[in-house]
Amino acid sequence: PEPTVATIASLSQHEGQTVTLRGWLYNIRSSGKLLFPTFRDGTGTIQGIVPKAAVSEEVFETLKNLQLESSLTVTGKVRADSRAPSGYELDVENIHVISAVSPNEPFPITLKEHGVDFLMEHRHLWLRTPRQSAILRVRATIMRAASEYFDTNGFIRTDPPILTPNACEGTSELFEMDYFDDGKAYLTQSGQLYIEATALALGKVYSFGPTFRAEKSKTRRHLTEFWMIEPEVAHLELDGLLELAENFISHIVMRVLEQHRADLKVIGRDVSKLETIKAPFPRVSYDEAHAMLEDAFAKGLIENRHKEGDDFGSPDETYISSQFDRPVMIHRYPAAIKAFYMQPDPADPTKALCVDVLAPEGYGEIIGGSQRVDSYDLLKQRIDDHNLPLAAFQWYLDLRKYGSVPHAGFGMGIERAVAWICGLDHVRETIPFARTLNRIYP
Ligand code: 4AD
Ligand code: MG
Repeated sequence: PEPTVATIASLSQHEGQTVTLRGWLYNIRSSGKLLFPTFRDGTGTIQGIVPKAAVSEEVFETLKNLQLESSLTVTGKVRADSRAPSGYELDVENIHVISAVSPNEPFPITLKEHGVDFLMEHRHLWLRTPRQSAILRVRATIMRAASEYFDTNGFIRTDPPILTPNACEGTSELFEMDYFDDGKAYLTQSGQLYIEATALALGKVYSFGPTFRAEKSKTRRHLTEFWMIEPEVAHLELDGLLELAENFISHIVMRVLEQHRADLKVIGRDVSKLETIKAPFPRVSYDEAHAMLEDAFAKGLIENRHKEGDDFGSPDETYISSQFDRPVMIHRYPAAIKAFYMQPDPADPTKALCVDVLAPEGYGEIIGGSQRVDSYDLLKQRIDDHNLPLAAFQWYLDLRKYGSVPHAGFGMGIERAVAWICGLDHVRETIPFARTLNRIYP
């Protein structure tokens, strides 16, 4: 009978059996009459052992001369080996080459170090390396766990449009395009305004999709296209929103730890830093955070003094978040530096009922959210103050005309969450094909 077709991830179910793997040649070493090929198949990698005497001359010579990333099927016997990273090795019996890479044009990503520009230029091939594949598997789980949290807690997924007539997060970072005869359309910066409408229809909703910002900044944290998941809840106020955020993040981290120990090891993540991520998270007001920074500046722990009333810069966020072993929730920023739709704090109307969740280890903001203005008159005033076109927001004002209620929500950028959970230096590795200020290829 033909050997069973198996995946590398499932080899524990096939110990002692002869199986066929379908994959690619990831690496190969030889030592005299022995070959040590490493195969990958998308689910993992495994090392094979090929003594010259154990296979046909043809198999030995073909494998010995095969270029990396040639595709092939491999048949061999699965043997447990405690020294192997996957716990198994394969005693190769036969191979069948599907498509051989030409020796004249070898696979460009070698096992030695490459510069970032080179790797990004070859992102379509870089994705095949074990670390990049591991990151994408963790990303998929983060996205699944994020949806799962809302799906299992009574939220209805309602996806907003991508093409919009108005700005959500300020007009300076909008991608604009012509929209037939009627004029202009913009790529969405956030689904929030639309899911406020669906929340007033359905109670608890969320959206999950790509969002766009014409960010002119070149930083470790900014993409021009990224994925955001956003819950929005009728009758929810700021305190409830903070609880939602901490439970949501804790759930995602728990799922990743449950399912991705091996991937996190490939990525080189210190998992002890994730094991502490359990609700409740510390709550720090903007004023308290400012006081922490004043104190740190006086002690010479940070270089630049934070100016009261200003947003926090990256070094400020890094300092604040480094004081805690779990995400910190900074609430009640000055209304003047936040979005037009945020509800003022009744205790001090110069502050907004909002929250930024900063991830530990210097990763900075992963969530931004707020309670929304629920008064028609105040919202209209805010739209005027921000010089936003009233006509494009008439529908949004309607939500305050017909049965307005307190409501709140937040948005989490998936790539920021992946960067933090995987411990990556830059968001460009968190998404299959990153879009940034100076890159739109491949
Ligand atoms: O803080 P932001 O701008 O908030 C909103 O868009 C709200 N309308 C969300 C809401 O309340 N429903 O963005 C939310 C999150 C940030 O915390 C960050 O994680 C991510 O989106 N984000 C980016 N991620 C990658 N690249 C960028 N340029 C990002 N801008 C924001
Ligand atoms: Mg923000």
